[in-house]
Amino acid sequence: MTLPDPALVVLIGASGSGKSTWAAARYRAAEIVSSDALRGVVGSGEHDLEASADAFTLLEQVVAARLGRRLTTVVDTLGTDVPRRRRWLEAARAAGLPAVAVVLDTPAAVCRSRNAARDRRVPARVLTSQLAAVAAATTQLADEGWRVIRVAHEETAPGRGEVVRDEVSTEGSLDRRGTGLRGVVLQLSRFPAEGDLLAWLRDVGGAAEAAGLSGIALMDHLIQIPQVGRAWDPIPEPWVTLGALAASTTRLQLGTLVTPVTFREPGITAKAAATLSALSGGRAFVGLGAGWWEREHTAYGLGFPSARERLDALERGVELMKALWAPGTKPYAGQRVSLPETTSYPRPVGPIPVIVGGGGGRSLRIAARLGDGCNVPSDEVGLAKVERYLELVRAEGREVSEVHATVLDLPLVGSDRDDVWARVERHRGRTAAPAFAARHHAGIAAEHAERLAGLAERGVTTAFVAPVGLTTADDVLALAPLASAFG
Ligand code: UTP
Ligand code: MG
Repeated sequence: MTLPDPALVVLIGASGSGKSTWAAARYRAAEIVSSDALRGVVGSGEHDLEASADAFTLLEQVVAARLGRRLTTVVDTLGTDVPRRRRWLEAARAAGLPAVAVVLDTPAAVCRSRNAARDRRVPARVLTSQLAAVAAATTQLADEGWRVIRVAHEETAPGRGEVVRDEVSTEGSLDRRGTGLRGVVLQLSRFPAEGDLLAWLRDVGGAAEAAGLSGIALMDHLIQIPQVGRAWDPIPEPWVTLGALAASTTRLQLGTLVTPVTFREPGITAKAAATLSALSGGRAFVGLGAGWWEREHTAYGLGFPSARERLDALERGVELMKALWAPGTKPYAGQRVSLPETTSYPRPVGPIPVIVGGGGGRSLRIAARLGDGCNVPSDEVGLAKVERYLELVRAEGREVSEVHATVLDLPLVGSDRDDVWARVERHRGRTAAPAFAARHHAGIAAEHAERLAGLAERGVTTAFVAPVGLTTADDVLALAPLASAFG
């Protein structure tokens, strides 16, 4: 059962129906607003009925404040008070949050026997009237405007529905040998190696192989970009760094995402990639883009021509690389590129896929006509571009099955709900937590695996995944459940 998140979740059930147990298995303590717990705060304990009025005053305040910030709020009361329910629903609507009523469909007899087993029992006639109120509420919820979810008694048997930390499984990773770029490729944009870059790369590469990922892509920038870190954070030259990764890994596809055509003449990138292919037994790929960040060009004494000229260079670059990698040393006379000879040794071991980065119309056309794949963001806008790209590929008379429709995904991955939200809080900067969580699909690995499987259904073949705050090899191992998302 997947509930919307963020959302207002109102529990409805008699005493002993299992409301608090259900909530505790799914939500962080801070997300649950419980009238019993608040009686313990303003009264002598959870059962101090004298403190009810104060407890509910507080409860209303907490619910309003959390919903106003678009934070998931689980209201743990009997849930049978109609005016309160209406107020909460209105507050959720005002905040644009979905409102879910979770009805604990626990048989009366089970509630009674659980009640009987408690130290402090609810009087029998009170429980009877609660059960009647819950039954009455249940018939009104849909009309009131709630999305109603009924939790059957069996479903919440102890032990079920608990958040279990995903086990790292390396099983089957060998079966993925030869799938090339398809699947999940780790994109490294930060290098927090703390002094020993080679050792860090070796650990991260080993973890990526153990997690069953398809490859590693390195960001290609001369200065760390502001979207990722600070200008003085290390950002190593990728083709040299990929050589080191080739030496310490055996299965991963290795390349850049993306090399700007403005940094090096494409012939030099073709040479580097062919060398990487030779060093790695045919595991090289090239991500190629038009470049976008003027500052790093100026700082390194490079030209930064107009967008049109950069795209022209991108187009010529793809063609030139393919010409140099083709067998033989004969002259090449293409549409945009002519070369007196194509003498390039060592030869690449097998084909080197060229992934063209950028979602502009022209980049997509270059990717469809000359490249082996496109790369766009993993959001809805990007997915529309994937669709457009695949149309362009078909229009070129090419097979869709031969190309790579790739997306860049920036997930926030935690080990459980508490860890997820601790990470949101650590990395969100000045962005409000719910907005940051939504942008990065904050969740546990199993949730990301399900989401990526949804991308695969929409034509995506490869997700370049750059987890928020990735620091250690353990953060890479935590991605193991994602590895099989593409089948
Ligand atoms: P809860 O304490 O979760 O019920 O479970 P509740 O609906 O929140 O009750 P009130 O309204 O606060 O009084 C009641 C008892 O049932 C057990 C719990 O361990 C607890 O002792 N329980 C609950 C189960 O054995 N299995 C379940 O699936 C849920
Ligand atoms: Mg309770």
